[in-house]
Amino acid sequence: MVQEFDKVGVVGLGAMGAGIAEVFARAGFNVTGVEIDQAAVDRGRAHVDRSLSKAVDKGKLTEDERTGIDARLTFTTSREDLADADFVVEAVPERMDIKKDVFADLDRICPPGTILATNTSSLSVTEIAALTGRADKVVGLHFFNPAPVMKLVEVITTVSTSAETVDVVCEVAKRIGKTPVAVGDRAGFVANALLVPYINDAIRLYERKVATREEIDASVQKAAGLPMGPLALADLVGLDICLAVMDVLWEEYRDRRYAASPLLRRMVAAGRLGRKSGQGFYAGTDDAPEPRPTGRYAQMIQEEETLDLGEVLLAPQIDDAMRMVGDGYASARDVDTAMRFGCGYPKGPTELLEERGAEAVVTTLVAMGEYGLTDIPVPAPLLMDQLPDAPEGEGHGGCACHA
Ligand code: 3HC
Repeated sequence: MVQEFDKVGVVGLGAMGAGIAEVFARAGFNVTGVEIDQAAVDRGRAHVDRSLSKAVDKGKLTEDERTGIDARLTFTTSREDLADADFVVEAVPERMDIKKDVFADLDRICPPGTILATNTSSLSVTEIAALTGRADKVVGLHFFNPAPVMKLVEVITTVSTSAETVDVVCEVAKRIGKTPVAVGDRAGFVANALLVPYINDAIRLYERKVATREEIDASVQKAAGLPMGPLALADLVGLDICLAVMDVLWEEYRDRRYAASPLLRRMVAAGRLGRKSGQGFYAGTDDAPEPRPTGRYAQMIQEEETLDLGEVLLAPQIDDAMRMVGDGYASARDVDTAMRFGCGYPKGPTELLEERGAEAVVTTLVAMGEYGLTDIPVPAPLLMDQLPDAPEGEGHGGCACHA
């Protein structure tokens, strides 16, 4: 089935869409990239050109390969040009009215067998699928930023997606060199539900002047060997995207853990969206060093032994991961794969838990609660089960989530 795939459409050629078009063309697919007007087409094409030139300069691509990729890429302002596409990925801005418009058009234009995928990070795939007359052939295909580099794609299935569609999409994902993790349609899916509340936590710490942005980022990079700290990552992902994910988590769960930080909301309102707007936590600051905060929280974090800054950021994320596994939404392996391949974690959250031991993570969470640094009232049951004095048959020192 997958071998028959040839023509792929990508609608929306912003940073993500252009990256997605590049990934498919590099894997040998004929790609038609669609944008709203010629200026947007030119920006999308320039994005792909820059990325391919960089690859050639670094010796990752030969000139011949590049010529082949260029020949497989077509750009247009007309969605009608997708009339013979086998597979379409939509990557337009995160607004349901825009997505609805695109999916209504795609459903009308594309043959009934065409699979339609949305790269949404915060909207309901189910709601998008329900707009079409082919809900069995609609999935989420969630790429990670930068799309050409990050190996994860989350394949989001709805109650209507057919098993055949899921198989085909996972095969396509592998053919473009990605690692698929297939999960149901739930706010934040796997990676964003774990990543974005952690970014939000970092913004809250920054807002409360617990530490400088450099200290916050360095602490967690050191604690878990992460490629970027959370505030630098917020700039990369886009603060508007972070806020949209927090709001959708809040809408779904109404849990204080998912209340967006006031600073995040204000920065978005001010148009400070990170790299894409040129202003963010680092963007636009010339990386000028910040003075060390001297307030109560800063003193506390420096003096209180149970409150290592990196662990203060990691413990709630590990707790969130254990709730996700405990709920049966994703397996421990999927959670770890998502964070390794989507966010460059050397170890996934359940591996970080094994490394630390449940007692250390629970101690951090309890201390954070005492000092008013978290809204998590009680650690996740699956985490508590692993404490040495947990009831018979549960606490066994190992990671219960792998059982
Ligand atoms: N486009 C294309 N290629 C890029 C790139 C970009 N924007 N940025 C970096 N690269 C390539 C480089 O060319 C280089 O390729 P090479 O190995 O073939 O030479 C490779 O990536 C590594 O880049 P660098 O050596 O310049 O930089 P780093 O080693 O610092 O890596 C990084 C950069 C890959 C971005 C790394 O810092 C990382 O993994 N960060 C975490 C990113 C992350 O967590 N992303 C997920 C965000 S969440 C998301 O997107 C979901 C959304 O819905 C919110």
